[in-house]
Amino acid sequence: MDCNCSHVILVGRTEATLLETKALLQKESSSLSSTSAASATATTVSIQRCDITSSADVQLLALHVRDVLDAVGERVGDENLRLTHVVLNAGSGAILRFVDSSWPEYEAVARSMMELNYFANVRLLHTFLPLMTSKPSSNGSNISSNNGSRKTTAAARVLIVSSLAGVLPSTLRSSYTASKHAMQGFINALRGEYRSDVVTFTNACPGYVDTAFHAKAASASSATPSSNNKNSTASSHRASSMSASECARICVAACLNGEPEIIMTLSGKLGYWLRPLIPRVVDRLAAKKSFASVGLKGP
Ligand SMILES: NC(=O)c1ccc[n+]([C@@H]2O[C@H](COP(=O)([O-])OP(=O)(O)OC[C@H]3O[C@@H](n4cnc5c(N)ncnc54)[C@H](OP(=O)(O)O)[C@@H]3O)[C@@H](O)[C@H]2O)c1
Repeated sequence: MDCNCSHVILVGRTEATLLETKALLQKESSSLSSTSAASATATTVSIQRCDITSSADVQLLALHVRDVLDAVGERVGDENLRLTHVVLNAGSGAILRFVDSSWPEYEAVARSMMELNYFANVRLLHTFLPLMTSKPSSNGSNISSNNGSRKTTAAARVLIVSSLAGVLPSTLRSSYTASKHAMQGFINALRGEYRSDVVTFTNACPGYVDTAFHAKAASASSATPSSNNKNSTASSHRASSMSASECARICVAACLNGEPEIIMTLSGKLGYWLRPLIPRVVDRLAAKKSFASVGLKGP
């Protein structure tokens, strides 16, 4: 928000997780304000249970965001408060071999990937971008800060937690790869509709991050390939993975810097730069890595 205070709205489907994260944030914020010159900056936190694939839930979320903007605006005496930061993090994956799945199964998984990783995020942006980029004028009409008639104090920021699968192939995860590529293509096209001093969009592309994501992806389909040494592969993968907090720190830094894209890990960066030059080699290595991640050798 454009004031010497901030309010964070945590969104997800599981209330217990939201409450736990809220408590963590509040603890972090009070220890920061007691040790730094930022003591004048007050951070408040609210939670909103929301399945982002449900349009009814998103409408309720929009009401909550407007209520928060009104309440904080009233408190600080500014009726033109904007939503300044949006993080699109929710997502899920699925591991399945295309030809080993029946069409109904593959189609169901592919549609659910697109529904959450692409359409839900696109709808969230359609709902919230107007609250980030325009301010109501004193006579009630909207003045778009994208039309050059009015300069905003600082650019609003959108962080999209994509994946290396948004820029490189992730074999056995074709439906996930397609949904992340779709979201990145959408964002790269959308970015051109805005001035960078109004709003910036950062596609963040992490590699393997140590979260519950992989276990959920492995159980998303009965056609998930597996091997006998799955456990040892999973733990060797975990050893080379990034922690969620380190990933979040890199994503947020890039977003606050207004970077259009951040590619993580050395192999991710090498793959990204070399693929236009030697696509066959990069795709073969990417496939090898993907098969190894489920304990298999590949074709
Ligand atoms: N872990 C990795 O290696 C990795 C690598 C690259 C990119 N990513 C990306 O990072 C993002 C976060 O993944 P993660 O690793 O933290 O996985 P995670 O532990 O499974 O977390 C997924 C998050 O998304 C929320 N979510 C899922 N479906 C939702 C829905 N329909 N509505 C609202 N919230 C929903 C979940 O909350 P609730 O379940 O409570 O709703 C949870 O907070 C994803 O976009 C993923 O594609 C992950």
